[in-house]
This record gives sequence, structure tokens and C-alpha cells, in this order.
Amino acid sequence: MSNDEEKLKELMSLKSVGKAIAEKMIECGYTNLQVLPITTSEELSLKIGISKSKAKKIIEEANEKLGYVFKTVDDIYKERKNIRRLTTGSHKLDELLGGGVETGILTEVYGASRSGKTQLAHQLCVSVQLPVAEGGFYEDSNVPEAIFIDCEGTFRPERIAEMSMSFGLNANEVMTHIQVARAHTSEHQILLSEQIPQIIMEKNIQLVVIDSVTTFFRSEFTKSEIVARQDRLNKHLNFLKNMASTYNIIVFLTNQVMANPDAIVGDSTVPVGGHVLSHKVQTRLYLREVRERQRVARLMDSSYLPPGQIAFFITPAGIRDAEDI
Ligand code: GTP
Ligand code: MG
Repeated sequence: MSNDEEKLKELMSLKSVGKAIAEKMIECGYTNLQVLPITTSEELSLKIGISKSKAKKIIEEANEKLGYVFKTVDDIYKERKNIRRLTTGSHKLDELLGGGVETGILTEVYGASRSGKTQLAHQLCVSVQLPVAEGGFYEDSNVPEAIFIDCEGTFRPERIAEMSMSFGLNANEVMTHIQVARAHTSEHQILLSEQIPQIIMEKNIQLVVIDSVTTFFRSEFTKSEIVARQDRLNKHLNFLKNMASTYNIIVFLTNQVMANPDAIVGDSTVPVGGHVLSHKVQTRLYLREVRERQRVARLMDSSYLPPGQIAFFITPAGIRDAEDI
């Protein structure tokens, strides 16, 4: 069976999808069932040219087929065993995160300029390619791949090479498994992220980085457009959150900070994005520069981990603990 025939067959396995609708869906990028639960009925009806109730039915059927319905707690408990955790290069930071950066959820790291957000994002793109026994996701000769949406133009292949060599990995090989796209506007960033489910069908994508997720949202909208901005950001984060859980992959977002005018004492730094971001991310990490190479990471928010803080280092080899440098 050709690739197109397979896609048609998969979509037509839903009762409400006939050949004409399936063809139109493929044409519009809905090439598999997994993409449907992360689509709204409004969007599907608009793009395919069908009624909203028909679109709703198609999405419902896909949810049912994929098992996204009420489940018993023991089923959920079993599913949670599928969660994997990726090493950050620092054992202390891994411990703070309950064993590493978790799949299936949104993880956000925020902090001032130079706090190490982009360095940590580079590190994860390399770490993910390590064997499972070393804290990565490599197993069964299937190299894990990463997608890096670069909103600030700060992705550096040289840094990937350095970090790879420090683990004894072949730098050229590692680089072939990281796909980088430079985003130019929030709209472009959203478009790029919407292409990811399709790439996941073709490649073993295990990690998606957006560095930084709020750059364009912050610069493109004026104060009076804040509601429109938060609405767009909310939809984007919803999509990313559903993608992380549907495909059980890591979605790692970096975020900028701003001064909190309400703070009277203590650290007045707060992450950009307000409640929209704080409600969507399940793990929030705050990075702070202490000395030239030393950084402090504080776990600010997690759905189940206790708060805490640790120190780590940015070294030529990558993110490391004090005892490893
Ligand atoms: P913004 O993007 O400006 O908000 O900052 P950021 O939090 O992303 O900072 P980034 O991750 O770029 O960290 C910058 C710090 O990492 C700097 O203080 C550098 O000292 C260090 N760093 C950056 N590149 C390298 C490198 O190639 N080698 C080493 N050893 N350190 C680096
Ligand atoms: Mg950065």
C-alpha cells in the first residue's frame, strides 16, 4: 500500500469519514488520527469545509478510537509508567525535576538574560540522543530526534558539537538528528509548531524546544492588545500541551522575565505570559546567574514535586554539577 493509501485508510477507519473528506483532510495536513484530538471542531470545519457538528463528530470518533475517554485510576497509573525522564547533564538538576525533564507535559524554564536557558535547551537536544542507561532516550537502534524552534536566533551548532564530543558522541551524527527552524513572527512560530505532528509521523521526535516561547508575543502586541495576545498564546500553549501528552514527548519552553511592579521585598522577577502560561505549564523552573559559570535552578511550580533549589554549572562540556568540573 502506498503512503497516501495508508493515510486514507487510517482516516476512513472513522465512521464519519468517507473518501472525499479523507482526501480533503490529507490535503489540509490532517494526515493521521493523532492530530485530530489536538484540533478544534471550529478549525477542522473551516479548513475542510464541513459543518461544525460533522467536525465535532469526527474528532469525537478519533478520541474514542485512540482511547482518550474516561479511564480508571489503575489504567492511568499504568500509563504513567510510560513517562520517561531526560537528563539535563546535572544530576542535581535531574533530582530536582524528579529524575529529569519529563515526557508528556510542558516544562518551562525562565530567567534573566545569561541565566542559561538556551544552554540548557542545547544540552537537552544532545542528551536525548544518549543511551537510556546514561539518561537519554536512545534504544533499539532508533536515534531520538529533536526539533528546535529558534525565536531569538541564538541556536549554535558549534555548541551542539562541543556538548556531543564531551559525551563521546559523533558530533556530525548528532547534528543530523536535530531539526532547527528560525521563527520570524508569532504566527510563523505557531505554523511551525503545527507542522510537528506530521514530522512525528515520519521521524522519532522525542523533544521539542521553543526558545523563547514568548519573544514574539511580547514584541508584537501593544498594551491595548493584551487580550488578543493572551488568547493567541493560550491557543498555542494548548496545542503544545496536547501534543506533549498525545505523543508522550518532551516539550521544553524557555521564557523571558520582567520586573514585577507589585513586589515590595525579595526577588521582583516574574516570568512573561501571566496566568495563561502559568496555568498551562506543569513544571516551572527559574534560573539565576550566581557567578560567571554557576547558576541556581529553583523549582517554582510542579504538579507533584516539592519545591527546592540546586546549583549547577555551565561548562564548555555543557550543563554539569560542581563535582564534574
Ligand atoms: P537570553 O537568551 O539572553 O535571555 O539568555 P539565556 O538564559 O538563554 O542565556 P544562555 O543560555 O545563552 O546562557 C548564557 C551563558 O552561558 C553565558 O553567561 C555564557 O557564559 C554561557 N555560555 C554561552 N555559550 C557558551 C559556550 O559556548 N561555552 C561556554 N562554556 N559557556 C557558554
Ligand atoms: Mg537564550
